[in-house]
Amino acid sequence: MSIQPHGGELVNRIAAGGERDALLTEASKLKSITVNAWTISDLDLIGVGAFSPLTGFMNKADYTSVVDSMRLANGLVWSIPITLAVEPNKAAELNAGERAALVGEDGVIYAVIDIEDIYTVDQKHEAVRVFKTDELEHPGVAKLMERSSTYVGGAITVVNRPQPEKFQEFYFDPSETRRLFAEKGWNTIVGFQTRNPVHRAHEYIQKCAMEIVDALFLNPLVGETKSDDVPADVRMKSYLALLENYYPQDRAFLGVFPAAMRYAGPREAIFHAMVRKNYGCTHFIVGRDHAGVGDYYGTYEAQELLKSFAPEELGITPLYFEHSFFCTKCGNMASSKTCPHDKADHLTLSGTKVRALLRDGVCPPPEFSRPEVAKILIEGMSEQPVG
Ligand code: ADX
Repeated sequence: MSIQPHGGELVNRIAAGGERDALLTEASKLKSITVNAWTISDLDLIGVGAFSPLTGFMNKADYTSVVDSMRLANGLVWSIPITLAVEPNKAAELNAGERAALVGEDGVIYAVIDIEDIYTVDQKHEAVRVFKTDELEHPGVAKLMERSSTYVGGAITVVNRPQPEKFQEFYFDPSETRRLFAEKGWNTIVGFQTRNPVHRAHEYIQKCAMEIVDALFLNPLVGETKSDDVPADVRMKSYLALLENYYPQDRAFLGVFPAAMRYAGPREAIFHAMVRKNYGCTHFIVGRDHAGVGDYYGTYEAQELLKSFAPEELGITPLYFEHSFFCTKCGNMASSKTCPHDKADHLTLSGTKVRALLRDGVCPPPEFSRPEVAKILIEGMSEQPVG
């Protein structure tokens, strides 16, 4: 028996067949709201049930409850607002009770929304609650503040799905991952979120987890990330090289998570865990500074926040890991839980240092990154503009 989706039922808001034809005909006559790539990824993830129990963009009651108490209005745990921001002049044309078309900048009608309410929010308050700061240096806050503060809530129905340009074969909907996990006979699956290449510390915590579950679902986030993160297509190549050389083929499964990165640290860890439950994971890895950026969150704050919810409310088992590193004295990967040696014996490289090495065409030590991964990152870096 596979794990229950969040809220008990996997949402499906993708129109097919006659329903889709009728909606497309209707949509061409509706008022339209222009949506960007981020919103298109959100609506598709709502459509396929990755964001179950959400059936659309949040109405005011859900939004307020999520921002202030990390719960939907019905009490279910939910930590990140999923909202549709609409410019005020456009919002003035819309009415609750109407249906509108959500149209991409490419002219494609991606979905229709049945408008429940139109409301204006205090984005500073949202920023402080969700990101714990309203500083514009925070990439999630910057993204929030550049949007309109008028939101449109309501259930959506997807009529056209965004088409990935690359690595199409690694896009699986939650219904597909659930079916595949069952076919493989896996009862316990640990989900791993990442927006980075998988280095030895990531590999170590994944493999520690793999010792106690049936399989790993390597689920890299490939939606919008900040400009200095490694691009998703370079990362995808590096994951494939890593899996091919160092992971058992029958116990590790790669599928992408096409969402935007919020950098909301602890709150995003909860969101990431709920979504992986929807994909069929029974366990979820949370290590050091999960989904963090800069110094905005404490190293283990995400773990503490998850621990503040009752296990049955989360419905997925978080697996917590300490900061991991290679210890030169132990001669292996370790954490403070398993290594008695001094910090001086630990190999630690900052992200800035690693990027500088890669940019100079130098492989970081194999104790930090597998050479196959480093080689792909060096090639990827050389294709990127320096900046
Ligand atoms: S994240 O923004 O997607 O969380 P990243 O890809 O670096 O960033 O991390 C993926 C997962 O690995 C997160 O759960 C994070 O906490 C964990 N992690 C990253 N580096 C380490 C490390 N050195 N030790 C322990 N956990 C780590």
